[in-house]
Amino acid sequence: MSVATEERTGVRGATRAEIEARTLREDRWWLSPLVTFVVFGAFVIYATVRAFMGRDYYASPYLSPFYSPCLGDCVEGASDFGQPFKAWPLSAALIILIFPLGFRMTCYYYRKAYYRAFWLSPPACAVAEPHSAYSGETRFPLILQNLHRWFWYAALVIACVLTFDVVLAFRNAEHEWGHMGLGTVLMLVNVVYIWLYTLSCHSCRHAVGGRLRHFSKHPVRYRLWTWVSGLNANHARYAWISLFSVALVDLYIWLLAMGVIEDVRFF
Ligand code: FES
Repeated sequence: MSVATEERTGVRGATRAEIEARTLREDRWWLSPLVTFVVFGAFVIYATVRAFMGRDYYASPYLSPFYSPCLGDCVEGASDFGQPFKAWPLSAALIILIFPLGFRMTCYYYRKAYYRAFWLSPPACAVAEPHSAYSGETRFPLILQNLHRWFWYAALVIACVLTFDVVLAFRNAEHEWGHMGLGTVLMLVNVVYIWLYTLSCHSCRHAVGGRLRHFSKHPVRYRLWTWVSGLNANHARYAWISLFSVALVDLYIWLLAMGVIEDVRFF
């Protein structure tokens, strides 16, 4: 057997039936990867533009989640945790975005989504991929996907910070307590979905219930594992909703900061 033949994998593998058609599926299997490609691609472009802008991320009392915590040379009122990277010459978002970005990029669900939509590897079940070789996630750079569990710990910290931002959003522009605007509501909804996304993570499920020989001897961890498992069933849904909600909150604050719109105050 030649080396080339040995390396062929998937439906073109040496042990598979030789079927020339790329797929025998007749449904619209391409629709899901196409929608993922368009929506996820649009988000990546939007987030990249906003992250590099370095302005219009704070409209008192609202701070964009792309810039939270604001640790660089941020505008007045935006840095509730100090400015340890004040000398950082670029946008403050670039200091912290590696953590939520790394968390999402290494997410088990997003991996499946963008492997299918962007790398066509494979584009759908029972549809041959265009690549002739497959090494999975065993080599650089994809072996770095194993960092996901560590990004999860960072994501917990970020979720706590975003929750703190929501508390601060119950103030008015003069920082007086007891107020609520549309920005508060949007940030509150966003942080709920951020928590649902973070706590439904497969790494969270393993952290609370993994490496146990007997659930019966760990009733608290078993209970937590049961809850996380329930959330985990909807992980893909939380992944998409939190993606939209974080972009929507940023857009709202961007428009407020530019003076294009005014905040709707409920009380
Ligand atoms: Fe999706 Fe961990 S598996 S965030």
